[in-house]
Amino acid sequence: MNINRNVQTLDEFTIQELRDVPNATGELSHLLRNIGLAAKRVNVEVNKAGLADILGDAGTINVQGEEVKKLDLFANNQFIKVLSHGIACAGVASEELDDFVAFDDSKSVNSKYVCLFDPLDGSANIDVNVSIGTIFGVYRRKTPVGTIVTEEDFLQAGNQQVAAGYVVYGSSTMLVYATRRGVNGFTLDPSVGEWSLSHPDIKCPEAGKIYSVNHGNFFQYSGGVRDYIHACQRKDKTNGGPYTQRYIGSMVSDVHRNLIKGGIFMYPGTTDKPNGKLRLLYECNPFAFIMGVAGGKATNGKERILDIQPTELHQRTPMFIGSKLMMDELETYL
Ligand code: AHG
Ligand code: MN
Ligand code: MN
Repeated sequence: MNINRNVQTLDEFTIQELRDVPNATGELSHLLRNIGLAAKRVNVEVNKAGLADILGDAGTINVQGEEVKKLDLFANNQFIKVLSHGIACAGVASEELDDFVAFDDSKSVNSKYVCLFDPLDGSANIDVNVSIGTIFGVYRRKTPVGTIVTEEDFLQAGNQQVAAGYVVYGSSTMLVYATRRGVNGFTLDPSVGEWSLSHPDIKCPEAGKIYSVNHGNFFQYSGGVRDYIHACQRKDKTNGGPYTQRYIGSMVSDVHRNLIKGGIFMYPGTTDKPNGKLRLLYECNPFAFIMGVAGGKATNGKERILDIQPTELHQRTPMFIGSKLMMDELETYL
């Protein structure tokens, strides 16, 4: 096996970045390191999912009314454990928890960040060995350091994110995170268990040829969305087409592919579910932030995802995200 070790690790990279930011305390680097650690633990379980007794349903339904998988719970517990033991996180909110959790020990209340996450995205794909992921967003708390965090710290618009990222447990395991300074991707080198910088300064191509949507819901979409889908299908060589349809059903993998190759991902509202399926705080906002820093766009069809002022932890929103020029065209249909 020929593994390139002449690359920066995640720790080296975040410390290097820190040196360029005056007055930085290193807390964010610490938080990212913790997220990387929890993700490595999840990765170990994901990799042996077919062998260990970790596949299948946990036998419970979460606050969203969805079936919980054993791996959902395992991932959720890993992230909470690691973040609560660390010194950089004052509290968390998760897809798998009814309410946020405020860490009340003395080191946590003195932390300045809160973290919101979807511990395992693409649950329906767990049992069939298809790529799944983790999504996270980090905010500076609104309440004073030294106190216990409140709901106000979690209900912030996405444009307040300090950092956001995701992990893909795929053919290789990757951690991608963004700060306002850029988007960078790290591949897990399994031989040494290190996240190694493999995709520096990711930019989303302005145009692409991939559109990703659940076609099964086609007749439940608005006229504008249906017209846009038809336009994607009608494109020919003269106008950059034809587009290719790709939809894995794990948002992390679908948006990751479109971020790298150029493309558009949509989870529109339907007649049954006008707000769609995806959750604003820990699914849409992190990706909208990452895509924005990478040069792309994200909207709910009416306004930028990042500008939506949340009112509930688990609120849902329609989501359209991707390459800038494709998004500009989509917006003429919505
Ligand atoms: P989760 O597993 O965290 O509940 O999220 C699954 C989401 C998302 O990853 C994916 O894009 C979408 O559900 C797929 O939904 P449909 O099967 O309705 O297309
Ligand atoms: Mn999800
Ligand atoms: Mn999930």
